[in-house]
Amino acid sequence: PSEEFLLKHKGFYFLPDLVTPEYIDSLEDFEIRDCDVFVVTYPKSGTVWTQNILSLIYHEGHRDGTENMEIIDRVPWLEYNIHNMDYVHRPSPRLFTTHLPYYLAPRDLRNRRAKIIYVARNPKDVVVSYFHFSSLSVKLETVPDFNSFLERFLAGKVLAGSWLDHVRGWSTHRDEFNILFLTFEEIKKDLRGAVLKICKFLGKQLNEKELDTVVEMAAFDKMKSDPRANYEFMEGNLLEKGKGHFLRKGTVGDWKNTMTVAQSERFDNVFKEKMKDLSLTFIWDI
Ligand code: PPS
Repeated sequence: PSEEFLLKHKGFYFLPDLVTPEYIDSLEDFEIRDCDVFVVTYPKSGTVWTQNILSLIYHEGHRDGTENMEIIDRVPWLEYNIHNMDYVHRPSPRLFTTHLPYYLAPRDLRNRRAKIIYVARNPKDVVVSYFHFSSLSVKLETVPDFNSFLERFLAGKVLAGSWLDHVRGWSTHRDEFNILFLTFEEIKKDLRGAVLKICKFLGKQLNEKELDTVVEMAAFDKMKSDPRANYEFMEGNLLEKGKGHFLRKGTVGDWKNTMTVAQSERFDNVFKEKMKDLSLTFIWDI
């Protein structure tokens, strides 16, 4: 099973080659600066999109040459320090990305230090995107059929564990953090509006021209053809060359093209059962 490809630590699944339990534990004491910004997501929820938007906002549309940096160097992963960067001495403002669950996040984040942008996506679109990604990723086991992957996802036995636990954790503990919640769907519906929302949260003011540039550069087609933003620079390291694109479709509701009626009902039943005692409401029907 795919779990064997993963590192289980404190109830969460990590990529084993890129992290150790000791490093994960050390992140609790990771020193946070008030001006740090974190993109927090469950996988396949719009992480890279938000990474790009955030770094575009901070660099005012990249007029300072930052477009020449790969996105993972602009907004590196906290738990997967792929390029061995010196995070401690990194100049401010530091931007980070993480899939960590709320309970493994640096302690200082819980004291409402730094800002967090949490992005969630319809879990049915997440599981479909995740299935395609698992065959693209050299780090994950290729699961031959969608149904097997769906069962693993519903059981939370995939990288980053259970979708529901992740979203539930961050949203029920929201008061402990300085956090802005966004959905993939609302960014898709109104990219400009989402950029403005993020700017307001960050206290960052862009002029009209800068705003236009951010919106233009964060559009799906633009990102897909941007070698610094489309993750194809990870080919060989994380992704298998020629197997497909990290930026696959970037649409809302693609699950309908993959899931059968029976699979969708199975999904609904599992979620209904798990959410019985939960007062969370989602924008999606689950
Ligand atoms: S990961 O592996 O967790 O970092 O993946 P993540 O970036 O969260 O999710 C990948 C999906 O996000 C889509 N994406 C976009 N959609 C619309 N517009 C833009 N600019 C964009 N950038 C990334 C990407 O295509 C993946 O979704 P699917 O449905 O597979 O296309």
